[in-house]
Amino acid sequence: MAFYSDEPLIGKHKTIFDTTLRDGEQTPGVSLTNEQKLKIARQLDKLGVDVLEAGFPISSEGEKQNVRAIASEGLSLDVCGLARVLQKDLDACIDCGVDMVHTFVSTSDIQRIHTIKKTREEVVSMAVNAVEYIKDHGAKCMFSAMDATRTDLDYLIEVFKAVEGAGCDIINVPDTVGVMSPSGMYRLISQVHSNVNIPIDVHCHNDFGIAVANSLMAVEAGASQVQVTVNGIGERAGNANLAQVVMCLQSIYGVKTNINTEYLLETSKMVENFTGIHMPPNTPIVGDNAFAHESGIHTHGVLEKADTFEPGIMTPEMVGHRRRIVLGKHAGKHAVKQSLSEIGIQPTEEQLDEILSRIKTIANRGKRICDADLHAVASAVLGKN
Ligand code: KIV
Ligand code: ZN
Repeated sequence: MAFYSDEPLIGKHKTIFDTTLRDGEQTPGVSLTNEQKLKIARQLDKLGVDVLEAGFPISSEGEKQNVRAIASEGLSLDVCGLARVLQKDLDACIDCGVDMVHTFVSTSDIQRIHTIKKTREEVVSMAVNAVEYIKDHGAKCMFSAMDATRTDLDYLIEVFKAVEGAGCDIINVPDTVGVMSPSGMYRLISQVHSNVNIPIDVHCHNDFGIAVANSLMAVEAGASQVQVTVNGIGERAGNANLAQVVMCLQSIYGVKTNINTEYLLETSKMVENFTGIHMPPNTPIVGDNAFAHESGIHTHGVLEKADTFEPGIMTPEMVGHRRRIVLGKHAGKHAVKQSLSEIGIQPTEEQLDEILSRIKTIANRGKRICDADLHAVASAVLGKN
């Protein structure tokens, strides 16, 4: 298969960290019940994500119970809990029996000075203490330098080296307010990669609509794990979209992940349903129109050979979707002929021209053509009415 990337990533394996139940649930207006969270956790396990951030246990007793319930589900994935670099937060995660504790502290001057009000030295020592505490309690540890992309680079590397020295398993580089450019992300991750010897994870926010691009550039630069959410939900404009990151990695770069991509649509629909956040039809991969064709030239091509007007390296079947031929004002003869044959009607060329013309007239009035309309038009033209 051809991969559309120059980077030497073909065959490399990358892991997927899902934060739908944590950052995703921070989407304004979204509140999931514990039962819904458990269902999403099981679905993400079936989908094949490697690590699931189940929640922020210190935030409430209900959240803690839910993280504990997910951690005791016996899922194949690693269950992770979020904690500030504070002992009470770390204890709350450890009490839930999670496999991994994800601890974070602000490192950018703007957040450090205006939110936590700590010196740079205090931040390093709080981070190191938190990592040591987690490791002493036998859990895996991920450390996030919150607002990493707005942090002074030398200081960021100092913090990462300090947590590496404390036994941290993986460091995360969050683009907390989504301001990084793809090339800036490539340079930043390359710098971190050449200074730190533990795996690198990225967490990109979508404020400018480039969270997926930034995540991919991070992978090109050496990141081994990407944080995503189903449907890209999350704080403000959300996080990198799981389906998009995974399909780009697999289909464009030839990277291997553990994701069973045929469950992508099903997973997206579940999260749409539970959150009430609906994907526009033109959403890549999982949107209703992702594999729909209306114009005559496109449908003719696709009916001959799907790759003519689809990526080819990604088929609807790969993501649990289906191809749709839509009859509208841009429809052509081939599409109408195909749709008629699916309902058992074989018109002559002359009848087909007449059916097409009537369909275009209806569509031009702004009406969507459904099978019943097609049947009615065909019956009228074939004289069966
Ligand atoms: O956006 C962010 O920085 C976060 C951290 C907790 C990783 O969500
Ligand atoms: Zn975030």
